[in-house]
Amino acid sequence: MLKVMDYEPTGLRILDQTLLPGRTQTVLLSSPADVARAISRLAVRGAPAIGVAAAYGLALAVDPRHSLRVAQRRLLAAAHLLKAARPTAVNLAWAVDRLMAEPSVQSATDTLALRRALERAAAAMEADDRRFGEAMAAHGADLLTGVRGILTHCNTGALATTGPGTALAVIMELWRRGERPAVYADETRPLLQGARLTSFELTEAGIAHQVLVDGAAAWLLAQGAVDAVIVGADRICKNGDVANKIGTYGLALSARAHHVPFYVAAPSSTFDASLADGNLIPIEQRDQNEVLSFAGRRVAASGASAWNPAFDVTPGAFVAGYITEVGVLHVENGMVQWPQTRTGPREATQP
Ligand code: MRU
Repeated sequence: MLKVMDYEPTGLRILDQTLLPGRTQTVLLSSPADVARAISRLAVRGAPAIGVAAAYGLALAVDPRHSLRVAQRRLLAAAHLLKAARPTAVNLAWAVDRLMAEPSVQSATDTLALRRALERAAAAMEADDRRFGEAMAAHGADLLTGVRGILTHCNTGALATTGPGTALAVIMELWRRGERPAVYADETRPLLQGARLTSFELTEAGIAHQVLVDGAAAWLLAQGAVDAVIVGADRICKNGDVANKIGTYGLALSARAHHVPFYVAAPSSTFDASLADGNLIPIEQRDQNEVLSFAGRRVAASGASAWNPAFDVTPGAFVAGYITEVGVLHVENGMVQWPQTRTGPREATQP
């Protein structure tokens, strides 16, 4: 499995995903500002992965040579910086809030203890992410056993998390169990997370698949070639509305029109109980050049401008089920229903 990040004594080493699949190159990030920049430019990306990267970024804010008071001040500044790196994926703010509220972080009596507490909490978060990915893969594969064709969007595999992934992990688990659905991956304009990253992961795993342009998805569904659509998520509101990579909403509309179930795979860290519905989700707008250029070359007419939202919102009513680490959840009485045994998703504050 690909390793998206590795915490080292001198910093956080990440795989630079902007260079894949052509080049496999790592970059050492030695400060919270480095981590925030890597998150903004999508060198590290995918909702769960940016949460864990930010967690390690907080540890990097603490220099054991500083006094505790200085270290705490720098830590707070780093928390603000990291939370502001990308607005839509709630995992980022959730991870930062969770580390800052950690009892061992709050009660550290010297700077070294503070750094170690942050490192331990970040490592625990990474381990949870892996465990949750494995559980989602198993629940999703149980649910989708027997599907003959499956369509996904964006990249939701090992590159997007620190474990096996979310939606793509389900597809990989189906294959591991001997199922052989036809796998279709949207290319995912404008940054091609599907064509560059999902296709790379599937190829590495020896899984036969076809990449299609996003505009072909509705027509593929019309052919009856797909029994299930499965995507990841960047934020899921209390009522089940889902923010995910731009193009997801159109895919959900098409799936609905063709009576194909549309599933969302996401860990509890992607659920935001503080937002009642999708209208409240901050949607990241990215640089126009991502749309106007292709592979570094201008393709749109000079003078053209672009609208480039990185995400869209799919109504909860379009979602057949949420595949989580605790099982497959549904919306009832206007709310995602969590099992009684857990407290439900925590709330994250905005930057
Ligand atoms: O802009 P990106 O590449 O970070 O967008 C990623 C997605 O939209 C994924 O579908 C989402 O984060 C779920 S990842 C497991």
